[in-house]
Amino acid sequence: MPQIHALRRGLYRLLESHTERGMARHAVNTFLILLIITNVGAVLLDDAGSTGPQWQPLLQGFTDISIALFSAEYLCRLWVVVENEKFRDMPPARARLHYIASPAGLIDLLAILPFYFRASLDLRYLRLLRLFWLLKLTRFSPAMQSLAAALYEERRSLLGALLIAIVLLMTSATIMHVLERDAQPAVFGTILQSMWWAVVTLTTVGYGDAVPHTVLGKMFGGVCALLGLFMFALPTAIMTRAVVEQLKRRDFVVNAQLVSHVPLFASLGIMRIIEIATMLKPRHVPPLYTVVRKGDPADCMYFILSGELEVQLQPRPVRLRVGDFFGEMGLLDGAPRNATVTAVTDTQLLILEEKDFHKLIRAYPEMRTTIETVAAARRSVPDMPGVSAA
Ligand code: CMP
Repeated sequence: MPQIHALRRGLYRLLESHTERGMARHAVNTFLILLIITNVGAVLLDDAGSTGPQWQPLLQGFTDISIALFSAEYLCRLWVVVENEKFRDMPPARARLHYIASPAGLIDLLAILPFYFRASLDLRYLRLLRLFWLLKLTRFSPAMQSLAAALYEERRSLLGALLIAIVLLMTSATIMHVLERDAQPAVFGTILQSMWWAVVTLTTVGYGDAVPHTVLGKMFGGVCALLGLFMFALPTAIMTRAVVEQLKRRDFVVNAQLVSHVPLFASLGIMRIIEIATMLKPRHVPPLYTVVRKGDPADCMYFILSGELEVQLQPRPVRLRVGDFFGEMGLLDGAPRNATVTAVTDTQLLILEEKDFHKLIRAYPEMRTTIETVAAARRSVPDMPGVSAA
């Protein structure tokens, strides 16, 4: 059983872990991306009639192999999802249901499912369905993930903008219907008919198939065209701000200024801070994310740049705040994590890996003393407040 768990953990890191940056993970991702792109290319060539009948068996074989590989990928993801920190406290069946119902899980499933019912489906549509595989690429694009996160975070504001658009649409269709119904009963005879004009005008598309003829209708048409510009400016502004915010949160860059805000490093000279900045990696974690889990092997320590975390201790949890560090005990003792630490808010961390930790405390004995003092204080009073290394 331990081997099975180790295999599952390894496979999870290979397929899903966002912190894993190894060659193997890179190779798997590249392979999957190439498989998707090649398939889409094959569909487009096939659709354009560029492939003769002699190529059909080869194309069919390629599709079958791709479907088999994507099916294997789906089953693997379903198996390893229980390793995700978010689901660790859930029964495995519930964790797997979460994956099945997640947007990424649904895309993965819908990408393969129709091909298992190919006998009862029209082959022409089935072929085009492979274009849907492009959606699988979202998993590999942090930018697309930021866009999805921004959409989700701003869903209420966007819904508000949509309501404004609907009100504008209905009002302008009704007014135009009143102004033009006598002059053009065939085009503006009902509010429903006028709505086509309103959509085309407010979206500033203007096909020109429905145009006002009366003077009042033309004047009102101009006002609607201008209102259309403002109608789009609102959701565009909401999304721009939200995406920039997401990107800032995810891809913050470790620089000397950030490092100088960590109390442990603050008194060092700029050259030393620049050197230390090269050792630290940025990490953004959402609320409720478990950063370290009691009993896991210790391979790094963390510095808190923003947000708050909780060390799960009895009888009371302990809060860690900006400037605090954690994960030092495991590295000092070479022991497993002695507590679970979970993010309470959106949190930005700096990660110092084990080898760099040892390099650092060898080079700066005073830093070692500070970290050891904090660790000793934490050990002697298990539920004492997070001690800042200021
Ligand atoms: P480590 O054992 O590597 O992983 C869990 C971390 O929780 C531990 O290092 C400390 O950094 C932190 N920790 C443990 N006990 C306390 C405590 N009493 N107060 C604050 N932090 C603690």
